[in-house]
Amino acid sequence: MTPTADVHSFAEPDRVVVRHADLDLTVDFERHILRGTATLRFERIDPAADRLVLDTRGLDVDSAETGSDGRWTSARFDLGPADSILGSALTIPLPAGSDQVRIHYATRPTASGLQWLTPAQTAGKRHPFLFSQSQAIHARSWIPMQDTPGVRITYSATVRTPPDLVAVMSAAGNPTGERGGTYRFSMPQRIPAYLLAIAAGDLAFAPLGPRSGVYAEPSLLARAAHEFADTEKMMLSAERLYGPYRWERYDILVLPPSFPFGGMENPRLTFATPTVLAGDRSLVSLIAHELAHSWSGNLVTNATWRDFWLNEGFTTYLERRIDEDVYGADFAGMEAALGREDLDDELERLEDRDELLHIDLSGRDPDDGATRLPYEKGALFLRSLEELYGRERFDEFLRCYFDRFAFQSITTADFVRYLRENLFATDGERAARVPLERWLEEPGLPPGAPRPVSARLQAVAAMAGDWSAGSTRTSDVPFGSWTTQERLAFLRGLPTPLDTARMAELDAAFGLTATGNNEIAFQWLRMAIRAAYSAADARLEDFLVSIGRRKYIKPLYEELAKTPAGRERALAIYRKARPGYHPIAQTTIDGILEP
Ligand code: BES
Ligand code: ZN
Repeated sequence: MTPTADVHSFAEPDRVVVRHADLDLTVDFERHILRGTATLRFERIDPAADRLVLDTRGLDVDSAETGSDGRWTSARFDLGPADSILGSALTIPLPAGSDQVRIHYATRPTASGLQWLTPAQTAGKRHPFLFSQSQAIHARSWIPMQDTPGVRITYSATVRTPPDLVAVMSAAGNPTGERGGTYRFSMPQRIPAYLLAIAAGDLAFAPLGPRSGVYAEPSLLARAAHEFADTEKMMLSAERLYGPYRWERYDILVLPPSFPFGGMENPRLTFATPTVLAGDRSLVSLIAHELAHSWSGNLVTNATWRDFWLNEGFTTYLERRIDEDVYGADFAGMEAALGREDLDDELERLEDRDELLHIDLSGRDPDDGATRLPYEKGALFLRSLEELYGRERFDEFLRCYFDRFAFQSITTADFVRYLRENLFATDGERAARVPLERWLEEPGLPPGAPRPVSARLQAVAAMAGDWSAGSTRTSDVPFGSWTTQERLAFLRGLPTPLDTARMAELDAAFGLTATGNNEIAFQWLRMAIRAAYSAADARLEDFLVSIGRRKYIKPLYEELAKTPAGRERALAIYRKARPGYHPIAQTTIDGILEP
């Protein structure tokens, strides 16, 4: 398959395409750099091609070589001007007959795809920690690469750390016992650059099932293993629905709290925020989500960031199917209803151009496209097809889709063609009822889009209404016996701002300021800012300083920034919090507060 043009990459994979990367990297915790070599084996698509163009961002390139038949020759290289979104093109002239390049380089402490943590920023407080986040276009800040999801490579790596620390990667070879400071990895399945991942620190391992386990700092390991105990069940359920798990192992790495995302589907090794460790497994649909990417995203990959909904919309749909299978229809129904509310909120905020599934991101940072929209609108579109064609047929369609495009990167047009030929063609009458153009190329939702509701959440929302109207007493709200999802729906169902006396009443009855569930804490703290409920001030500051998950901190800073006094407070908190945030989160919050 010829790679599709990607506006977010300088690479020319239609002329020369990289097939394998071999990395040799030393983790330097003193200087906050990775140093070493990337050896790239390539293939000429155009026999006359005489240069290889790679993506880089802020790399210090020392030298380059080209290789053929194991003989290496020093090569010229040219690092182009830095584009603020894309970084710099690294161009290496290729002698005829060469099929490898080797680049000697180092990253910078400011690399956008890496976060270096001091011992104080870890749970154990004794060892430093490093982790990467390559999606969408940050792989280029730590490896010179054809950093486009349209290009897939296999990789191998040697990673050197201080002898008492452990390195892990999105590959086979993650250590489960012995340390020593030299680790070797290999990834035999072809993956796009955004799925390259590395972490290093004081990591321990606990098995979860026959082919799954969890890595975490030692003090978190037991909690993590308890939280993720259903992992094998989820894998079996996903396999039953969508075909075999093709990556052999599925492990989870619990990161320090500054990890800017909830989860990241790095193949064989999902990266996860510690904020999901609620103690009661109530937030583990995040694992269902990242696991589902093993089919939608990692196996069948968006070819460009325009096609991001093929990753996230499919995955959100799959996530809810796994939820339903493992935790029941009630639970999945609540998640779907909450998701629909998120989508409605997002639709109120977004500009029209950002409401298309097939979004145009040219000239923009692809991270700008990562709103709730591709997740929830995409999932709703698939749900509408499921409702129209029936579960059995639609499940079969998806299973065949994953088989047909396994280990390939595809565009929205490729999907549409497959949909027409394999689902629509079987039933033209039904096909005529699908407003395909409206779903993919227009803002908002087509009329008749599914509106998932949950009877349980509706009952809770009604109770929230009664409580705020004064017709239900606080002591009659069975908050303590509700699930996390019901609690969230109750809080969401309250009018805002609530007056402080009413906030205090809820807090006294349900211990909201002190909750250990981060999803509920987030919801409550947002209400507290709106209500100027000062009893939660200290908790808010502590939350913002200790957690760097963007989904939580962004709305909280935005809420604070709505008033001049709140902005002052936000700036004071941010001065303390910023050094601990990931570069990606810093950029987001800088944009809100302009400090
Ligand atoms: N792949 C995404 C994370 C991502 C998207 C990183 C775009 C960078 C750019 C991951 O699978 C994801 O969707 N994470 C969610 C959690 C999920 C349960 C919805 C998150 O981090 O909020
Ligand atoms: Zn996702």
